[in-house]
Amino acid sequence: MKSLIWNSDETIEIVEKEIPKILNDDDTIIKVTYSSICTSDLHIVEGLVPKAVEKTTLGHEFVGIIVEKGKNVKLKIGDRVAVNCESFCGKCFYCKKGYVNNCENGGWLLGCSIDGGHGEYVRVPFSNYTLTKIPKNVTDKNALFVGDVLSTGFWSAKLAEIDKNDFIAIIGAGPVGLCCALCLKYFGANKIILIDVNDFRLDVAKKEGLADFIINPNKKDVINEILKLTKNRGVDRVIEAAGAKNTFEMSWKIARANAIVVVPAMYEENQILPLPIMYGKNLTFKTGGVDAFCCEYLMKLIKNKKISTDFLITNEINFDNIIEGYHFFKNNKDKCLKIAVKY
Ligand SMILES: NC(=O)c1ccc[n+]([C@@H]2O[C@H](COP(=O)([O-])OP(=O)(O)OC[C@H]3O[C@@H](n4cnc5c(N)ncnc54)[C@H](O)[C@@H]3O)[C@@H](O)[C@H]2O)c1
Ligand SMILES: [Zn+2]
Ligand SMILES: [Zn+2]
Repeated sequence: MKSLIWNSDETIEIVEKEIPKILNDDDTIIKVTYSSICTSDLHIVEGLVPKAVEKTTLGHEFVGIIVEKGKNVKLKIGDRVAVNCESFCGKCFYCKKGYVNNCENGGWLLGCSIDGGHGEYVRVPFSNYTLTKIPKNVTDKNALFVGDVLSTGFWSAKLAEIDKNDFIAIIGAGPVGLCCALCLKYFGANKIILIDVNDFRLDVAKKEGLADFIINPNKKDVINEILKLTKNRGVDRVIEAAGAKNTFEMSWKIARANAIVVVPAMYEENQILPLPIMYGKNLTFKTGGVDAFCCEYLMKLIKNKKISTDFLITNEINFDNIIEGYHFFKNNKDKCLKIAVKY
């Protein structure tokens, strides 16, 4: 079968690999129908993810059909499923608390340290926990982001512990920032400020009803604009979903005293937390990799048409063109949000 791998010289290539086999009773083999490319895939190729293993098949955002299963798996052969970006055992100390990102027996494996969804077939471990059945009235494309970017938005929105009248600033209107806004809107937020240097993405946020206010830092002074909106206080909640050079600094500067600052962004460099300067501001920071354990719930929201991530798909390509897809995704943020890759 064809698989997309990465090399330590930052190149990607399609190679032939064996179709994976069941290794454990909880495994399934999934025939991928659609996948997407994630910013974290680009981070792997650039060598920025220490635990990523060279020549592993990339891809951790995908949906498909169960074609083989181990004897403990409850779902059936032929079921259409969304695959969780994290493989977690459901039984260890962290899993029992819902902190599945730190599962003692798993974590982020697919497309990182074991072969992922940018191949035609994938072995998925812990399938009773990491697969979500796609209901009849939900298409594969409708469900494509449940296991990764939508889960990240939902988790970040939850960590923000909002009141619906809070002023919430989201830095970065990429797929993660937009999914944060989508989930915050679902929670009833009515004062969302989307901040991005990219007008195309801000326009999408406005058009989809995900932003009540938008600020482009290249055109307006972010701090001044935020102070004007918030009676000189700063925002009640911040979600930093940009991960750029100056956006961590922006995140605590625009927060009011006692605010919660959620940081799903992953940085390429260390960030500075100047505690003496912010002493007395009493901020709470929450950060890390998504605990993606709410996929059943998110699938239900999609099924019941409470939320939809379809607007994120700006491009569709065939798997044969995935290398071009990676380059397009990386270099065209002014016209591309997410690519659906068809197999
Ligand atoms: N925590 C997790 O589990 C998790 C999961 C998925 C992605 N991520 C991370 O979340 C981040 C966002 O992911 P994404 O796919 O939306 O990425 P993205 O690159 O598509 O979006 C980032 C956005 O930030 C904007 N931006 C850049 N510089 C800016 C600035 N100075 N001011 C305002 N906006 C600026 C960009 O224009 C872009 O629209 C990435 O760092 C990604 O690695 C984390
Ligand atoms: Zn991802
Ligand atoms: Zn576990």
